[in-house]
Amino acid sequence: MPQLSTAALTAVPSGVREMFEKGRQFSDSIDLTLGEPGFVSPKHVIDEGVKYLLDGRTKYTPNAGIPELREAIAEKLWIENGIKCDPYKNLIVTAGATQALMLAMVALVNPGDEVILQTPNWPDYLGQIDMVNGKAVWATVKEENGFKMTADIIEPLITEKTKLIIINSPSNPTGGILDYEDLEKIAELVRKHKVFIISDEPYEKLIYDGQKHYSLATFPGLEDYVLTINSFSKTYAMTGWRVGYICANEYIMKNLIKLHENMIASINEAFQFAAISALKNGEKDVERMVAVYKSNRDYLVENLNKIKGFSCIMPAGAFYAFPNVKEFGMSSREVANLIFDKTHVVVAPGSAFGPGGEGYLRICYASSHDRVVEAVERLKAAFGTK
Ligand SMILES: Cc1ncc(COP(=O)(O)O)c(C=O)c1O
Repeated sequence: MPQLSTAALTAVPSGVREMFEKGRQFSDSIDLTLGEPGFVSPKHVIDEGVKYLLDGRTKYTPNAGIPELREAIAEKLWIENGIKCDPYKNLIVTAGATQALMLAMVALVNPGDEVILQTPNWPDYLGQIDMVNGKAVWATVKEENGFKMTADIIEPLITEKTKLIIINSPSNPTGGILDYEDLEKIAELVRKHKVFIISDEPYEKLIYDGQKHYSLATFPGLEDYVLTINSFSKTYAMTGWRVGYICANEYIMKNLIKLHENMIASINEAFQFAAISALKNGEKDVERMVAVYKSNRDYLVENLNKIKGFSCIMPAGAFYAFPNVKEFGMSSREVANLIFDKTHVVVAPGSAFGPGGEGYLRICYASSHDRVVEAVERLKAAFGTK
């Protein structure tokens, strides 16, 4: 048999999925590994998708997405984010943020180009950088600074080979967010060094305690550098629908569309109509879900800090707690396995999120409140309280 590609042979299986698969062996497992809402998508979204499917809207659409959805997204970007986006020149609908990111990576990164990203990081960024033979350059973020990837961490890493910086606020896996001043300094860096920057914002609305999300693309002078990526997955509990988008300048967009045709052509038509319903009628659903996430977060973090071996800062956004478990004196993988063996609570080891994640666990609290409470009770019983 001929050899498979280097990309296939060097790709690393997900450390999150490894634990998830373990959890599936027992019916009493409480799985808090995967990063997705425990909620089913809002009913009006499902109804809309079904209605258009029954109407026979089962065809290819324009590569960039149906005009109705592009217009709705452009309006959202202007009203909520302050991003000027022409729906016919600056926008493309993608198969979730995952494909948006892959598309951007293929469009921006040549072999050997350096891509600066934070660690701990969402693992797929690295997998995608590897697929285009780019070189990942780690910006290690620190717990004592709220896990923020700030300009002072990024700037020393910039070389003449730097092509792209990825920012992700609120962040998976840490829940860290960048505030206005942090972004202002990053904007200054981009203007100075003239590098591309992806702002990956799928958790923009999952933000607590009155904090505000800012989009980097609104800072002046960045039009030619920033690609804003977002998705319906986390905000509207629509992970399975696979709808996301990229907003960027016209020249970048023309090139993205050619590549998008080669990659997936377009996403399915009925679900694009369903996504419009999420944007137009989904605000109450988001409020309802965010209220549950917030109460889960507060309960989980307060109680983790009472359990021996755990210490956890309050995540500002997303739906992950990222407790420090260095006191166990083991690798994060060993701690995740120990927790699983003793409690059947399934969490992801920090090491699954790059070198900066060692010593931590990621616990997704987008589950029902009862499950989070039950998980905490099991952890308390297994490890004792301080
Ligand atoms: C930071 C980040 N970006 C992008 C994605 C991809 O989301 P989707 O492809 O479902 O839109 C995820 C999913 O976990 C994520 O955590």
